[in-house]
Amino acid sequence: MKIAVRYYSKSGNTKKIACAIADAVGTTANTTDEPIAEQVDVLFLGGALYAGGIDVHLRDYIKKLTPAQVKSIAVFSTAAGGKSIQPHVAGLLNGTGITISGDGFSCKGKFLFINLGRPNEQDCSDAVAYAKAIMEKLHLLE
Ligand SMILES: Cc1cc2nc3c(=O)[nH]c(=O)nc-3n(C[C@H](O)[C@H](O)[C@H](O)COP(=O)(O)O)c2cc1C
Repeated sequence: MKIAVRYYSKSGNTKKIACAIADAVGTTANTTDEPIAEQVDVLFLGGALYAGGIDVHLRDYIKKLTPAQVKSIAVFSTAAGGKSIQPHVAGLLNGTGITISGDGFSCKGKFLFINLGRPNEQDCSDAVAYAKAIMEKLHLLE
């Protein structure tokens, strides 16, 4: 059973969720600059919404993923409006043989003067519950 957590975060909001998930599933959260050394059963992959889409770095990262590295992906994200990046990720994975697990977790992230303090503790614990549900679904919980 192999699990990895990768994220792309400009101002630290998505990183906060990544760290909470990584802690809960017993691994470390790394940026998308960190390669996946051996095949993982599930990759928790995080990003944020910028101008209605995902950043080009995350897009390029996803495009390069292969089923030899990653069997399935569980998405988490933050956005000022709280919308998920899952549709963007799913579109890029279409036809790659990498499956998506779950409906994606998303929460509000602070942006300029709105959503101050988000993600907050509740957001982190909701993200952990989501990650644990994914793990249970994939029978990865020991
Ligand atoms: C340049 C820019 C564009 C953004 N565009 C959107 C957007 O279209 N929709 C939205 O809900 N939030 C938008 N946001 C807010 C971010 O999604 C939000 O702050 C997110 O939590 C940032 O996560 P990060 O700190 O991990 O980068 C934008 C933020 C920036 C900096």
